[in-house]
Amino acid sequence: MLQMFLTAVLAYLLGSVSFGLVMARVFGLGDLRSMGSGNIGATNVLRTGNKLAALLTLIGDAGKGAAAVLLARWLVGEDVAGVAALFAMVGHLWPVFLGFRGGKGMATFLGTLLALSFPVGLAACATWLVVALVFRISSLSALVAAALSPVYALIFYHWHGAVLILVMAVLIWMKHRANISRLLAGTEPKIGAKK
Ligand code: G3P
Repeated sequence: MLQMFLTAVLAYLLGSVSFGLVMARVFGLGDLRSMGSGNIGATNVLRTGNKLAALLTLIGDAGKGAAAVLLARWLVGEDVAGVAALFAMVGHLWPVFLGFRGGKGMATFLGTLLALSFPVGLAACATWLVVALVFRISSLSALVAAALSPVYALIFYHWHGAVLILVMAVLIWMKHRANISRLLAGTEPKIGAKK
């Protein structure tokens, strides 16, 4: 029980590190919160025009999710890997370091999936990519990939993993409320567009 609690706390703290804000500081991109969608994720970093910063944000935010799961599995065991995934996500979505105003979680979600079950993560990444190639809208890709991930978990992983992934997918959909409104209104910007 103590191990599970410590895993949750450490995963939450790791998830709370925003690579978007770190990259914005490193590359002098200004305040992500007052540009584009106002989000701290790779998609919004890309709107600054700095592709390297966006790529590093994606790798960092996905990497922290994967690292939380892999560390938990290595230090404690498989039983707590899911706890680490969930709390890394919660850290990214509601980070203690940013007054609990975090991101939308897609990169961190993909990182946790790749570490929890590589086939599930791969299927989710492929889904994101296919939707992005067809529609060129990041939020739509995220919503579709998140929605299908519990199904992939049922096929490639196990049912309790699917329940955990469903919970994370619901959090992602909740955080994309403004995007969903823009998608329905037909005003959601394409990937890389400045606004
Ligand atoms: O992963 C974030 C993406 O789905 C939406 O980002 O900046 O367009 O709200 P943004």
